[in-house]
Amino acid sequence: MSEPGLDRFSLDGRVALVTGASRGIGEAIAVELAAAGASVAALARSDDDLDATVERIESAGGEAIACPADVTVEEEVRAAFDAAEDALGPVDVLVNDAGTNPFFGDARDLDIDTWEHILSVNLTGAFRCAAAFGRRVGERDGSGAVVNVASVGGVVGLPYQTPYVASKHAMVGMTRTLAVEWAPEIRVNALAPGYVETEFTAGVRENESIYEDLLRDIPQDRFADPEEIAGAAVYLAGDAASYTTGEVHVVDGGYAAH
Ligand SMILES: NC(=O)c1ccc[n+]([C@@H]2O[C@H](COP(=O)([O-])OP(=O)(O)OC[C@H]3O[C@@H](n4cnc5c(N)ncnc54)[C@H](OP(=O)(O)O)[C@@H]3O)[C@@H](O)[C@H]2O)c1
Repeated sequence: MSEPGLDRFSLDGRVALVTGASRGIGEAIAVELAAAGASVAALARSDDDLDATVERIESAGGEAIACPADVTVEEEVRAAFDAAEDALGPVDVLVNDAGTNPFFGDARDLDIDTWEHILSVNLTGAFRCAAAFGRRVGERDGSGAVVNVASVGGVVGLPYQTPYVASKHAMVGMTRTLAVEWAPEIRVNALAPGYVETEFTAGVRENESIYEDLLRDIPQDRFADPEEIAGAAVYLAGDAASYTTGEVHVVDGGYAAH
């Protein structure tokens, strides 16, 4: 049994690869993991924004590198893991945050290319990274943790977001299955944010009637700041969650509670 205290939340000596780390929730998670002691490999497509995340972490005294990559491209993901391991050492924690949601409308108006694009980033991209991580942990007989950033749309339906919600429900299914398959060496959990103030939700926040409708369904009566999601990722990544796997951790201001 360990001593009571905050040590179990520490990520000192761990290496975390965070996808979607160039802005929004992924950036907040990267910064918070680094503040908890992890060395962070920050992955996304935009070099400049990734450099800004790395600078934020370094200026707070942390360690980070930028690993520019597209999660839909196998070779780029492999190269990003290689770069992370060369610079920081074996990756102990994977946070699958990269995501997209370019469609908001009646499912009958959705074209299949858009459906496939959303699934390829949100679901297949996350699986590609999880599989790369799982293989590497297995090859070194190690252990680790995966945190899949799903959504409250991974546990309830959200009108007008069919492909997004399908991708996030599938991510939850993937999370539960990998948790069972890879136990006890690798814990796999999902984090399910509600509505968060990022570029992702700029469109709905700018539409007054949609925004007001959404707020009525959020007991906390506001969207979250990305930082309010990041603490849960630190918990799920570290030893404080050593007996937690296959779980969906909802952080939604009460949205799904009623
Ligand atoms: N905002 C919300 O209300 C909310 C709620 C629940 C769940 N989520 C989930 O949280 C995650 C982050 O959302 P956010 O609000 O922070 O969105 P965001 O501000 O749009 O950030 C999305 C991140 O994903 C990266 N990304 C997108 N496509 C990528 C690709 N093909 N390869 C690599 N990186 C890619 C983006 O970087 P580049 O463009 O530089 O590649 C960016 O870093 C998503 O999975 C989203 O579904 C968001």
